[in-house]
Amino acid sequence: MAAIPPADYVPSPQLLAGRHILITGAGDGLGRAAALACAAHGATVILLGRTVRKLEAVYDEIERAGYPQPAIYPLHLGGASWKDYADLADAIEREFGRLDGLLHCAAHFKAFMPMTDIDPQEWIETLQVNLTAPFALTRQLLPLLQASADAAVVFVADRHGRKAHAYDGIYGISKAAVEQMMRIWAQELDSHPQLRLNSFDPGPLRTALRLKGYPGEKPTQVPPPETAVPALLWLLGPDSRGISGRAF
Ligand SMILES: NC(=O)c1ccc[n+]([C@@H]2O[C@H](COP(=O)([O-])OP(=O)(O)OC[C@H]3O[C@@H](n4cnc5c(N)ncnc54)[C@H](OP(=O)(O)O)[C@@H]3O)[C@@H](O)[C@H]2O)c1
Repeated sequence: MAAIPPADYVPSPQLLAGRHILITGAGDGLGRAAALACAAHGATVILLGRTVRKLEAVYDEIERAGYPQPAIYPLHLGGASWKDYADLADAIEREFGRLDGLLHCAAHFKAFMPMTDIDPQEWIETLQVNLTAPFALTRQLLPLLQASADAAVVFVADRHGRKAHAYDGIYGISKAAVEQMMRIWAQELDSHPQLRLNSFDPGPLRTALRLKGYPGEKPTQVPPPETAVPALLWLLGPDSRGISGRAF
């Protein structure tokens, strides 16, 4: 996997000015850090997540800082229907007319476990949030992304989806599948150079999700989500133009 961004990368202060970027899982962890950073670099962010209180806290932080006014879109990806995604696309079209960035951060993870212990409901929920939702969102938002002069879709990956380890379970399977989906889609869209799709494994980050997998780990030993932000800014902004179908 290639390393990004270049070691000397410094995003320009207004890197994402004028862009509309939808971020899933924006209320916590990496999604929250990405939302604040995108807004700080000039983007209008659409904060999607399931816990309204968390989304409102991010909204308030962005507003207090004087960044472009964000929008909130609460949606439980575990139970969302095709119509829910179509309604979201309609709302974005009405409000903004196009979409310049889509960052898939939301993820469902319960625990590492043997395949024989996976509850069928857990299997379905994980696939719904980690694979079906990124598919359905990207599919429904594609016309709006294609209406942008320069758009980027980023799927957040995980090393547990890149190399099989015992107990990775349905989480690892869902992350492997989402990267394969990204590659297939990027090939199909290679005649649309203004739209790129890539995936990015941020490595271990100090978040609620990490704690579920590694409950004995000292949080201070794991980097905060902000360490992954420069790579996401690079992928979402114009500096990664022309790069598509890559797993970083
Ligand atoms: N942390 C790591 O070490 C690590 C390593 C590699 C990759 N990743 C990836 O990084 C991404 C962000 O994870 P994170 O570590 O930042 O975890 P996190 O802090 O637990 O954040 C996950 C986000 O997903 C949202 N979410 C979960 N289920 C949802 C649902 N059904 N509908 C809508 N939103 C839902 C959560 O909302 P609520 O807050 O409302 O629950 C939360 O905002 C994930 O794709 C994860 O796989 C993380």
